[in-house]
Amino acid sequence: MSKMKIYLAGILAVAVIFFGFIVIRVGAKPGTSFELAKIPEDMKMTKIGYKDAYPLQYNSYMKNKEAAPSPTGYGGSLPHVSYLEEQPEMLENFKGYKFSVQYDVARGHVWAGVDQINSQRIPPQKGNCIACKGSYMYDKWFKESGWEFASKPFAEVTPPYTDKDTVEGTELYMGCSTCHDPDTMQLRVYQQGFVDSMARRGIDVNNASHNDMRGYVCSQCHNEYYFMAEDGRVNHPWDNGFDPENELQFYQSGQAGAFQGDWKHPDSGAMMLKAQHPEFENWVTSVHHDAGVTCVDCHMPYMRENGQKYTSHWMTSPLKTVEQSCLKCHDESPETLIARVKTIHDNTFKLQRIAGETCAKAHLSIKAAMDRGANDEQLAQARLLIREGQWFWDWACAENSYGFHNTDKLMKSFALSIDKAHQAIEAANALAGGGTAPAPAAPTM
Ligand code: HEC
Ligand code: HEC
Ligand code: HEC
Ligand code: HEC
Repeated sequence: MSKMKIYLAGILAVAVIFFGFIVIRVGAKPGTSFELAKIPEDMKMTKIGYKDAYPLQYNSYMKNKEAAPSPTGYGGSLPHVSYLEEQPEMLENFKGYKFSVQYDVARGHVWAGVDQINSQRIPPQKGNCIACKGSYMYDKWFKESGWEFASKPFAEVTPPYTDKDTVEGTELYMGCSTCHDPDTMQLRVYQQGFVDSMARRGIDVNNASHNDMRGYVCSQCHNEYYFMAEDGRVNHPWDNGFDPENELQFYQSGQAGAFQGDWKHPDSGAMMLKAQHPEFENWVTSVHHDAGVTCVDCHMPYMRENGQKYTSHWMTSPLKTVEQSCLKCHDESPETLIARVKTIHDNTFKLQRIAGETCAKAHLSIKAAMDRGANDEQLAQARLLIREGQWFWDWACAENSYGFHNTDKLMKSFALSIDKAHQAIEAANALAGGGTAPAPAAPTM
């Protein structure tokens, strides 16, 4: 070897050691440690079966039982807080659909079984509803016979419970296996509709980075989905992108197959879509995501107890733990940061009410045109506009952060809603006295 080669080899060796070190540091596990325990087979889908092995995580997870308001006054983890009482325009907007019978604010994970089994929306529903209530869908049914459970009656496939009104009686809902492989305790995504939909976007969830998994374990449930008309499986409208316009286009263009909508509105006669909690879609396109901040960084911050560092499993408003959840990155005082979030909520909620009320008015304007004798052909444009207008409103309301996760995108959704709903009202009003609807507006996306 020439001197030059030895010299170059030396530089290379130093570079490998240096960059290798960085790669190892970045990819390293955060500072929590735990000893892996063997969980008995029949306890794998529970919570109690993990209690002795992982007391810090178990005890913090059981804090999800706690009923408490949010420091901002929005959302919160209180039982039976009804959106329908808070925002009566929803009674008109969801008329003819079960969401006008009961629609409550979410609370902690350990209540998911109780709240689902007792839901007044359940009777007509199928087995697919259990997909986001814990890994029973996967560990019991999917491994046995794929998506067959999805179109069976709900009562036949829901996890067995001993008492439908208590957290203890619904042990098999939302257990530790919801996010952990019970054998290795590594994070895993069991919800196969999420895995398939991400694969269509070229993302292999099973080989995701550790940081991405800290978003995906939550995102597998906290997203917009629909049940495929063909076989009842859970699917997600992400092929065109993660904005409300992209998802609407998916539903409008036939990409959802035989699925046309969730129900026909009895006043306007429009075929409607119900949006569901798109937290994933808002986070994944947010400033926080782009800075590498995941759901877990805010909602499951690191805690310390008796000198041991662990991940909090109390998945609730991060503002209840603002020091650990936010101040590790932000310099503001807790009061300033909470006030900032509350301002975002106030502004968002104001637009939310205006959009919701305008949609309600649009349903009634179309009904008035029908009462005046307008026919289906004449009403088609107004009905399409209210379907779109309500989608944009519902999409942003059903997102649980009242604007925080992605403020500009959620505000855009309300603005689009208000515009479409007004166009629907104008189109319906133009039908007075048997007139014809104005020329169709430009394609909507
Ligand atoms: C940068 C921090 C941050 C990230 C990242 C984040 N959230 Fe949030 N989340 C918040 C804040 C702040 C609120 C509003 C809490 C409040 O007003 O009390 C919130 C609210 C929520 C709520 C409603 C809570 C309630 O009490 O009503 C849910 C559900 C939620 N987030 C889920 C998620 C999911 C799922 C993800 C990832 C896909 C995520 N969040 C990412 C900070 C975050
Ligand atoms: C909703 C998802 C979710 C559920 C349910 C859940 N965990 Fe976790 N758990 C996580 C996440 C996220 C982490 C952080 C892992 C990481 O970054 O590597 C974690 C970390 C852990 C760790 C590693 C040590 C630590 O504190 O970081 C243990 C042990 C653990 N969880 C035990 C449990 C137990 C026991 C239960 C049930 C009582 C449970 N988990 C339920 C998401 C969950
Ligand atoms: C298996 C599906 C599923 C997974 C996975 C999941 N959630 Fe949830 N989450 C739910 C359901 C269902 C509820 C509502 C429960 C109820 O109201 O009974 C909920 C409620 C919440 C709430 C409201 C709690 C409150 O105090 O108001 C927050 C915050 C939340 N989830 C955050 C997260 C985060 C963060 C993750 C990932 C670490 C996650 N979720 C993973 C299904 C899931
Ligand atoms: C791991 C670091 C990290 C954590 C944790 C974190 N943030 Fe941030 N936050 C950031 C970064 C980085 C930005 C983008 C800053 C920028 O682009 O100037 C940001 C931006 C913001 C913004 C401005 C958003 C916008 O649309 O421009 C707000 C408000 C905010 N954070 C609040 C919070 C709150 C509240 C929490 C706790 C619930 C929190 N953050 C947790 C790193 C973090």
